[in-house]
This record gives sequence, structure tokens and C-alpha cells, in this order.
Amino acid sequence: MNKLKILFVTSEIAPWVKTGGLGDVCGVLPQALRELGIDVRLLVPYYPALAQAFPAAKRIAELGDLGGKLPPAILRQAKTASGLPLLLLDCPTLFDRPGNPYLDADGRDWQDNALRYGLLSRVAALLGSDANPLPWQAQLIHCHDWQTALAPAYLKYLGGARARTLITVHNLAFQGLFGAAMLAELGLPPQAWQIDGVEYHGYLSFLKGGLQHADWITSVSPTYAREIQTDAEGMGLAGLLRWRSEQLSGILNGIDDDLWNPATDPQLKVNYAAGNLRGKAANKRALQQRMGLAEDSRMPLLGIISRLTEQKGLDLLPPLAAEIAALPAQLAVLGSGDRELEQAFRAMAQKHPGQFAARIGFDEGLAHLIEAGADMFLMPSRFEPCGLNQMYSLRYGTPPVVRSTGGLADSVVDCIPATLASATANGFAFKAPTATALLSAIRRAILAWHEPAIWRQLQHNGMQRDWSWRAPARQYAELYRRLAAA
Ligand code: ADP
Ligand code: GLC
Repeated sequence: MNKLKILFVTSEIAPWVKTGGLGDVCGVLPQALRELGIDVRLLVPYYPALAQAFPAAKRIAELGDLGGKLPPAILRQAKTASGLPLLLLDCPTLFDRPGNPYLDADGRDWQDNALRYGLLSRVAALLGSDANPLPWQAQLIHCHDWQTALAPAYLKYLGGARARTLITVHNLAFQGLFGAAMLAELGLPPQAWQIDGVEYHGYLSFLKGGLQHADWITSVSPTYAREIQTDAEGMGLAGLLRWRSEQLSGILNGIDDDLWNPATDPQLKVNYAAGNLRGKAANKRALQQRMGLAEDSRMPLLGIISRLTEQKGLDLLPPLAAEIAALPAQLAVLGSGDRELEQAFRAMAQKHPGQFAARIGFDEGLAHLIEAGADMFLMPSRFEPCGLNQMYSLRYGTPPVVRSTGGLADSVVDCIPATLASATANGFAFKAPTATALLSAIRRAILAWHEPAIWRQLQHNGMQRDWSWRAPARQYAELYRRLAAA
């Protein structure tokens, strides 16, 4: 049987380039698909981190004349340790920059992001067209978020035979909006400037181009796939998404259950598993030590690991500082993002030393220790397409306290008598995006934490469910087959 050939195209791949869950997903899902017998190759910019990891990546094609002001580039090839073939888009003028892939050192978008991700999309389209210079021809191009969303648009306007296209929406809040002048610079034809093309209220929208022209659209949880079709959550694209609802579905993300496994995680002080949770106490102590919190096992410890942005609802917490301190509870925050929120968490920690602690920055090792050492994990997101941290915490026996939205609603089962009876309860969920609702969920969680039998049941229910990519990868594989056959 011929293997299905899929080109994955992404702007992030963990562990090398990651600003959030997109990197995690693109770092693991392709491997899970390969294990199902699918020939997946992954196209990603040759950022410095990848150039360092794969210095000997072989040149396999010279790409010139891509239209507009898109610069020429080189395509290189390498393989990850687990055997995933990488196609590395080498264009030093656009991608040889350190740090965050999207932002300069001052936290501003790179001015030429349209060209940078336009080139990535354009090259994906080239590989899916009949002008493909490689001996390997993809049957389907799987795009992720705005950074690669122009690929289906390019394919449509290039004409000729083409691969099928799928776009996964990881976050509708990021749409890739640029000035109208970019149309020509990106080498898109004038007829693309239409309401059913890439034009969006006078701007050129990468994401709209993908949502309009991809053969299929997925989002990263069934609930978010429904939410984005409502005016309240559709971020201006609900009408288009409703129009495409027959070709739109939700597949809940999985997690890398080798990397996030409390039984083997090298970042933990003591490894542990569902059958033996005693090791969790030592991780709590280690976390308290590392973050300068009082080493008190009787104090419930709330953990947070997050981008600090409006999406995550963490602005609800600083106004609750006095109430949380009085519960009493400890709080360990790891995150970075909005300067104001960073400052608010620093101030909370200064005002309540030993009880609240904040680490501003990105720290993978500490993230693992928080998942293991915290008693419960907070995610009061305003919206959450999927969310991975709540699944990591479920796997680590750290019941999450979440706002019931998107993927949080699809993974966290609120602890109430009925869900305890059915052995499905695994955390705490609240509805209103308010500080009061959050506080009352935290209170409920702390009450349950003081009831060891209930708490152990919550931990077990979370730890025993399969959060891996195995089932979701099969759903993607089935969708690929259906699209490729159409
Ligand atoms: P999002 O992609 O919206 O940021 P997710 O929950 O899907 O949210 O994924 C976030 C990923 O980024 C997780 O792997 C999480 O551990 C990681 N992460 C976020 N902030 C930090 C941080 N400050 N330090 C370490 N890891 C972080
Ligand atoms: C986005 C979303 C997050 C999701 C991640 C991976 O960053 O904000 O909810 O888990 O993508 O799909």
C-alpha cells in the first residue's frame, strides 16, 4: 500500500522553537502520524536554533522567482533523532534572527513578518503544486495558524494540479493582518483582493486566506470549533466559519506523554505514578524551596505556567491577592508577556513573601517541577482553543481549576457528586469570567484537597485517562485519507 504523503508546515517545532502550544503540537503530532504509517515531512524556517541543531542539513533545492518581493531561498533537508524528515527553509535575511520567532528584542513584531511567513506559505504551496522541485510530492498540505495560512490561497491562485489543503486553527486571535500594499509584495494576484479572498476590512489577512481556501478546517478542540462560529467568540471571522461549517471539525490535542511523564521526568525531585503518589510531596517541597516559598506541606499550593496575556484570564488573580493569602494558599507563577501583568505578579510576590512567588521568563525545567509540585493548577482562560498545561497537570496528579471554555471544557470534568460517582471528576470548572467565580472554584478545590479520599480520586481519574496523541493522531489520519481521496 502506498503511504499517504503529508506536508506539515509550521512556524514552530518543539523543542527547538516554541512560544507556546503550537510548538508542542508540531513537535509531537507528526511523529505520532508516522507511527500510523503516514509519510509526514515538516517544513519550517531554518531559524538559528534549527541551524544549530542541524548544521549539516543538506541543500536539496534552490528556490528563486517566487513572485512579488519574496526573496530567493534554499531548501535543506535533515532528520530528527526520531526519524522525522525536516524540510528547512533557509533564507538568512528573513530567518537568521535570534530569540522569539515573531518579535524583536523589544517585544515588537518584526516589521517584515508578512514577507517572512508569506515566504513560508509560498514555499509550502510550491511543494504542493505541479511546479514542485522535489522528487517527493505531498498529497495534502497541513497548515497551522496564520503563519502558514496563505498556502491554500497561493495554491488556489497559482492554478494547475495541486495538493489538498487542511488548516488547523490553534488560535483565532492571531490573524496575520497587514497593509493592502503587501498583496503585490507577496506575489498574490489582484483578484485575490476580494471579500471571498484575502481582503479583510481593508487589510490583507493571512488567516482569512486559509479559512477561505483550505479544503478543510480543524480546530484544536470540539468546543472551540463550535465557539468560533459564534459572533461572541469568532473574532470577526464567525460568519466565514459558519459558512464553512460543513468543512470544519474539532480534534482535541494530545500531549507528549514521554516528555510529560511523572514516572520518568528528569526535572522532578522524585518520580511518581498514579499507584504511588507519595513522591508528589517531595516535589512540592522542592518547588517551595526553588521559588522561595515557605516549606509548609499543609498549605495548598496553586501553580500557574502561562503566557501572560488577556486570553489567559490571569488579570483576575492580582485583585484576589488578599483573599487567596487569607484562605490560606500559596501561589507559584511562571510566565511572561504583558508588562503590566508581569509587574502585578511581581508586586503580589513582594507583598506576600513566602506565600506568593513569581518567576518572569520562560523556563521549561521549572514548568515541569510546577506541574509536579503544585497541589492544583490554575487556568482561568477567557478563551482557550485547547490548552496543554491542564492536560500536563492532569497527567501529573495536579487537578486543574479552569474556566469552562474551549479545550478546557473538553478535558476538565468538574468535581460534583455525580461526576465523583461516575469516576470522571478530575478538576474544577467555573463559567463566568470573573474574579468571584474564580475564587469560589479555588475555594471548592481547597475544600476537596482537605478530603484525602476525594482528592486521590480526582488525581487518579486525571492520571488514568489517556491524554497522548494516539487517539487524536488516528482522527487526523482518517481526515487526511478522506481529503486525499476526495
Ligand atoms: P498557549 O499555546 O496558548 O500558550 P498551551 O497550554 O497550549 O497554551 O501551551 C503552552 C505551552 O507553553 C506549554 O507547553 C507550557 O508549558 C509552555 N509555557 C508557557 N509559558 C511558559 C513559561 N513561562 N515557561 C515555560 N513553559 C511555558
Ligand atoms: C494555541 C492555543 C492553545 C492551544 C495551542 C496548541 O496557542 O492558545 O489553547 O493548546 O495553540 O494547539
